[in-house]
Amino acid sequence: MRKVCAITGSSSGIGAASALVYAKNGWNVAINYSRDAARAERTARTCHEVGAEVLIVKADVSDDQQCRAFAKAVTDKFGGCDVLVNNAGTTKFVGLTDLDGLSAEDFHHVYDVNVIGPFQMARAFVPLLKGRPGAAIVNVSSIAGLLASGSSIAYIASKGAMNSLSLVLARVLGPEIRVNVVAPGFVEGDWLREGLGEARYDAAKKAYVADAALSDVVTPEDVAATIYWLGAGAKKTTGEIHLVDGGRRCQSL
Ligand SMILES: NC(=O)c1ccc[n+]([C@@H]2O[C@H](COP(=O)([O-])OP(=O)(O)OC[C@H]3O[C@@H](n4cnc5c(N)ncnc54)[C@H](OP(=O)(O)O)[C@@H]3O)[C@@H](O)[C@H]2O)c1
Repeated sequence: MRKVCAITGSSSGIGAASALVYAKNGWNVAINYSRDAARAERTARTCHEVGAEVLIVKADVSDDQQCRAFAKAVTDKFGGCDVLVNNAGTTKFVGLTDLDGLSAEDFHHVYDVNVIGPFQMARAFVPLLKGRPGAAIVNVSSIAGLLASGSSIAYIASKGAMNSLSLVLARVLGPEIRVNVVAPGFVEGDWLREGLGEARYDAAKKAYVADAALSDVVTPEDVAATIYWLGAGAKKTTGEIHLVDGGRRCQSL
């Protein structure tokens, strides 16, 4: 029987690449988005083309009722779930020295999506995951939470909080469910291109390559490969943070 993976924020970028990896490896997938249905349908088509049964669920992870409805839709369609990937995320690009550039509302919004959302999704999906051999949650954090560098102070703090959330969930959900974190570095794609603008994107990419031990940035597919390994393999690994950063952090130690 095909296993099932539910991935938040899987209409584009890392989430879409992850859905395709699971689909190519014989899993059924639940694709999620909160705004752009057309992108979600595109991802669903690519997964369907490689043989997966696909469910598309519109749900904002910051809304607990929508997380619970997401879990119910997966139960109704697939009868359970083997892996939950908490990938949906948001930020506000504000220079780190611009303390007045971030309001309490900005902070709350980033936390609602990046920290409370993954908690609510985990809570909603625990009943679906329990009893499934090898069940796992993979949380997509960021090198920002480890280097204290990134798109804004709110984002950096939210990813640090996500790392702690994942550690405590690994303790309380074991032995039935493993919980691990993937922390990507600079990922090529629209998140940074739109957030920084084309000129700053190119400069930031060049600087990142110069600072990384592997002299490269990361692709969504690079991150997806680790998300797949942590979900489908890594049977004795829980409560760990795995960097996919081209060797950027090791240059800072
Ligand atoms: N790009 C990077 O350099 C980088 C580096 C480190 C970590 N990350 C992390 O990687 C994750 C994915 O980012 P990405 O680069 O793949 O960006 P992306 O292409 O912009 O993907 C973000 C996804 O999240 C969805 N989303 C946003 N808010 C949501 C919400 N409230 N509820 C449900 N879905 C929501 C978006 O769909 P809709 O627009 O339809 O809602 C989209 O599918 C994020 O957690 C991010 O923090 C990214």
